[in-house]
Amino acid sequence: MDSQTLYRSKLVTIPEAIGKIKSHQTVGVGMAASEPPGLLAELGNHRDRLDDVHVWVCLPLGSYSFVLDPSMEGHFFIENWFYGAADRKVHAQGRESYIPNNLHQASTRKLYANKNKVNVFIGTATPPDSRGYMSLSLGIVLERQLIDAADIVILEINENLPWTLGDTQVHLSEVDYLVENHVAISQLPVVPPTEAEEAIGGYIAELIDDGSTLQLGIGGIPNAITPFLMKRKDLGIHTEMFTDGMVDLYNAGVITNRRKTLWKGKMVGAFALGTQKLYDFVKNNLAVEFQQGRVTNDPYVIGRNYRMVSINTALQVDILGQVCSQSIGYKHFSGTGGQLDTHRGAQLSEGGRGIIALRSTARNNEISTIVPFLSEGAEVTVPSHDVDTIVSEYGVADLKGLCLRDRALALIKIAHPDFQAHIKEEAMRLGIVPHF
Ligand code: COA
Repeated sequence: MDSQTLYRSKLVTIPEAIGKIKSHQTVGVGMAASEPPGLLAELGNHRDRLDDVHVWVCLPLGSYSFVLDPSMEGHFFIENWFYGAADRKVHAQGRESYIPNNLHQASTRKLYANKNKVNVFIGTATPPDSRGYMSLSLGIVLERQLIDAADIVILEINENLPWTLGDTQVHLSEVDYLVENHVAISQLPVVPPTEAEEAIGGYIAELIDDGSTLQLGIGGIPNAITPFLMKRKDLGIHTEMFTDGMVDLYNAGVITNRRKTLWKGKMVGAFALGTQKLYDFVKNNLAVEFQQGRVTNDPYVIGRNYRMVSINTALQVDILGQVCSQSIGYKHFSGTGGQLDTHRGAQLSEGGRGIIALRSTARNNEISTIVPFLSEGAEVTVPSHDVDTIVSEYGVADLKGLCLRDRALALIKIAHPDFQAHIKEEAMRLGIVPHF
């Protein structure tokens, strides 16, 4: 059968495709900009015929009734390993729960929800080429593995998705049903950095030598760094997430990937999330290699890079050096993603460094993010024995190898001046710092 005939033979409507899902099944979903918006919007319309369907997601971007509508209770349960704004609201209502996880292990069988099995995978892809191959486009963190594991594979074809290179190809013969939905791709706008974020960007840039390979994480700070790197030479990228800032550095000739040890000449990552500028950049770009999350985020793979520097963000750090990036006390906020993978991997690299950056205060300077001890309920994302370097707008705390007393002293120095006295007092009261 020629590929056009094969393509047409698998085409169904969106309601027909969702009609293949049965009660008590688990549905795996493409993540972030690779989520299938047409299929996800349809899911809630099948509420009355579906009971106890587990929907397994990561970093969902859209607003969908199966998540937001309280009447979905008992029909859909969401298992999510990276929360967005909608998930934070729904979590408290009990229809959604968080899966603790490291990104490089995200698609191992042990993590599949509901009896370790994904029954149906729903994702996105470009239209096929003349030989029947499609590109999984903006993300293969776990999509490729879910396609292999699922009993039924449904792809939402969108001609606006860029064809990307690397391990992204999937053939029509691997797919059961196709739907067409040529909508605009979800974007993550770049927010202009605050003064504090710019100061942090400046400190971090000083820690990055020419020829380093970088991972930049999610949040305001990683994007604030890129303007400070414009004078560096021959940087490389080995990341989980491609970002807009990387495009600027590449176009300025700062990122050349020439001195990388792995995938020399190419930026490597598992998914892209940003603006249309980024999506245009990754399209058919031989300098951009998409690899599965189990590869990009394997700490031992990351560690084979020369001068690997990982840069991630946190919500709270305590004076022992415990980092929390995924919750505000008991309130679950986001996820670990690949934070620990990349923080550990960077430290395995020759000349590497794991950086966690955070603004020293939150909520209009009312609270310190550097604290004597993490808030009750805080979920640690980097344990104290893994932590390397913490940066705030007040400087750099190089914690690796320091005893607890010296860690506390180093962290107090980079806390906001208004909170330093309180943290010191608490450090003494807790017996971490005997006296000053
Ligand atoms: N206590 C209470 N509230 C706090 C806080 C604290 N210690 N720290 C931050 N907040 C609030 C902020 O005020 C802000 O509130 P608002 O939305 O009402 O303004 C909110 O929490 C988000 O903080 P912000 O610092 O703006 O977040 P960000 O968008 O820069 O993202 C993380 C930071 C940590 C949430 C994000 O990087 C993340 O989820 N990281 C974990 C995963 C990871 O690093 N993966 C690897 C790379 S993909």
